[in-house]
Amino acid sequence: MFSNVGVLDSGVGGLSVLSELVNVMPNNNFLYFGDTKNMPYGTKTSDEIYSYTKKIIEFFIKKNVKNVVFACNTTSAVAYDKLSQEYQNSLKIFPLIQTVAKSAVENLKDGDTIAIFATRATINSKKYETEIKKYNSKINVLGVDCTGFVEIVENRLYDNKESFDLIKSKMDIVQDFGAKRLVLGCTHYPYLINLFKKINPNIEYFNPAGCLAEIVKEAVIKDNNFTDTKGNVEFFVSKNPEEFRKSGALFFDIKNRIELINQ
Ligand code: DGL
Repeated sequence: MFSNVGVLDSGVGGLSVLSELVNVMPNNNFLYFGDTKNMPYGTKTSDEIYSYTKKIIEFFIKKNVKNVVFACNTTSAVAYDKLSQEYQNSLKIFPLIQTVAKSAVENLKDGDTIAIFATRATINSKKYETEIKKYNSKINVLGVDCTGFVEIVENRLYDNKESFDLIKSKMDIVQDFGAKRLVLGCTHYPYLINLFKKINPNIEYFNPAGCLAEIVKEAVIKDNNFTDTKGNVEFFVSKNPEEFRKSGALFFDIKNRIELINQ
């Protein structure tokens, strides 16, 4: 039997990771938690983000989850170190940034610039920079605080002029610095990829979701026996399940019930 894998994020962002996980592990059972009541995480303090995440972990533990994927860069940046210590005997946690940093810089040369689009909390933590420098200390890391992007996605404000102007202003920074690659350092940002590509079709885009899913698969599958039963996904949110269903539709067509959990 495959074990349950818990996947968490502040909202619909993590569905961009869940869709990759389901692709590579179609027989596995997943539980997805979108903390829509506390979203966005990126403008909250580290203590707040830590306590939101801990509550979700406790919820997962009650559901017999043994592996948790932080499908959230912000949580990985500010809460993973402490939580992974606290739960080291009961859970395996897969943090996003730490797991994908090596792939993010693959084929880049010394002196190249890699830009990171991420939330304020992720940028302030400098976690991407720290992790990337472990693999190549001669790469320039340009962190760009993209506060506001998460709300565009959660509220589906794609055709709005203010959204375009905000995104364009951030893309301009990346272009001015001559970055070679742009990391989608928040799981909400793959929802905006078409807009990004329209503004800048030339830069290399790196969406960490696929790489994270492969690494989770390697680790989880080896602990399990083969099965050909189709896996199941259960969805939980802390607010507005129907909005969650609509906003997440770009990455996941949720047909089943989305349970509301009071966190
Ligand atoms: N999607 C999350 C991330 O990857 C959190 C975004 C937010 O709630 O600010 O960082």
